[in-house]
Amino acid sequence: MKRYPFRKPLLSVALVAGLATSTFGIPSSSFAASQVETSVLTKEDQKIVQSVNVNNIYSHISRLSSQPRVAGTPAEYNAVQYIQQKFSSYGYNVQIQPFTFEAYVPPTTLSLDIKDDNTKYTPQALTYTGNGQATGELQYVGLGTENDVKDLDLTGKIALIERGNISFAEKVLNAAKKGAEAVIIYNNEDGELNGTLGGANDAYVPALSLPKDVGEKLAKKLQDGETLNAEVAVEGSKLETRTSHNVIATKKASNQKKDTGEIVFVGAHHDSVEGAPGANDDASGVAVTLELARVMAKAKTDTELRFVTFGAEENGLIGSTKYVDSLGQNDIFRTRAMFQLDMVGSKDAGDLVMNTVSGQPNTVTDIAGDASERLNGERTPYGQGDRSDHVPFAEVGIPSALFIHEPTEPWYHTPDDTIDKISKEKLQDVAEIVGAGVYDIAKIDRVTPNVKKPKPMKNVSKEVQDVK
Ligand code: BES
Ligand code: ZN
Repeated sequence: MKRYPFRKPLLSVALVAGLATSTFGIPSSSFAASQVETSVLTKEDQKIVQSVNVNNIYSHISRLSSQPRVAGTPAEYNAVQYIQQKFSSYGYNVQIQPFTFEAYVPPTTLSLDIKDDNTKYTPQALTYTGNGQATGELQYVGLGTENDVKDLDLTGKIALIERGNISFAEKVLNAAKKGAEAVIIYNNEDGELNGTLGGANDAYVPALSLPKDVGEKLAKKLQDGETLNAEVAVEGSKLETRTSHNVIATKKASNQKKDTGEIVFVGAHHDSVEGAPGANDDASGVAVTLELARVMAKAKTDTELRFVTFGAEENGLIGSTKYVDSLGQNDIFRTRAMFQLDMVGSKDAGDLVMNTVSGQPNTVTDIAGDASERLNGERTPYGQGDRSDHVPFAEVGIPSALFIHEPTEPWYHTPDDTIDKISKEKLQDVAEIVGAGVYDIAKIDRVTPNVKKPKPMKNVSKEVQDVK
């Protein structure tokens, strides 16, 4: 993160904004003329910068990341209650929206054995794998494309497939269609392959993954003409109906006469993946959302603000999809912008970016881009990215963007996503940019409503991590 030296001391802006310097208790004579000329913060920016307390953000993360918050578990509900209580304590009207979803439960038994081979294999299950036991000859099937399998009969065989080009689901289905009893996909990059088939499907056979080196060794033997007989067992994976919750804190326009009728959303997700404390993913986004709600609680605004934390994001953007489905057409038309905060505090990640589903700039990237320029002297870049709760909003035509640091940290979705990897500086920066952007829209500056009817976007595909 780069800070322009001119921004400090921040209070030089008071002169530009025409505020009484006594408000800040600093005499105007303490500022050099050059500082006055180069400072660009508005009085709303000032309020955000002065009010955001990064220690509050840090303490929310610390509390939330004391344990993983898997959707539908008591730990997630505990986070929901914490968030609800904080919003309420700031004076918000808070709603809890429960919803059910089908959670994937991983297999209890998972094994791969190869006859006459002393190697101990520790495969992973692809999420949504089929269950079953299979014994058969291992057959190398390249990338497992339709073309790769078209002349093969895989009846009674176990297909060995390399990762790449097409989704894991397509590979599994292609092989299963040709009779394969089970599928093993090996990585095309170093490390474990933690993949998902994207959703349940009765046509799936047992589907396992192996690291690159292990898979390549097997593929080489097969290509050299060796015969390998394998035994695969996957048992106990299932879908289970669970209940998760969204938390919605609402602040109506503070002055009814000046109400533009518009709504601005700030969102994050409070669930985490199994085994991951999710300090950055996404306690960081929830914590910044809470702090911005606190900062904005008493602000004079002509726009309705909704601070929302979603459940079951990690299961496929389920909470945000349910929430958007529950919005009436009127609320959708009234919504001017959605700021999604997901993974906004890692020391070990790259710089802040704003990702839109289309990759094109929109109201959110324009407004937050302007705010970042005023705050930091350079515009936060925008790019393309889905993978978070801004997607369902974008799909109904709401200008939305995901705030995230890229490249992401190595601890993503691991037990090491913990509070010690969190940077207060990064949190502060994101809170200021998003806070200043939201306040820029919401400050009282218009008497006439300016509600534009957004056009729904078509053909937005939901990308799921590691489906390819
Ligand atoms: N915080 C991540 C999103 C993310 C991670 C974006 C890395 C960009 C880089 C989010 O919680 C997540 O993991 N999302 C899922 C997708 C979702 C549809 C299940 C993912 O990316 O696998
Ligand atoms: Zn996340």
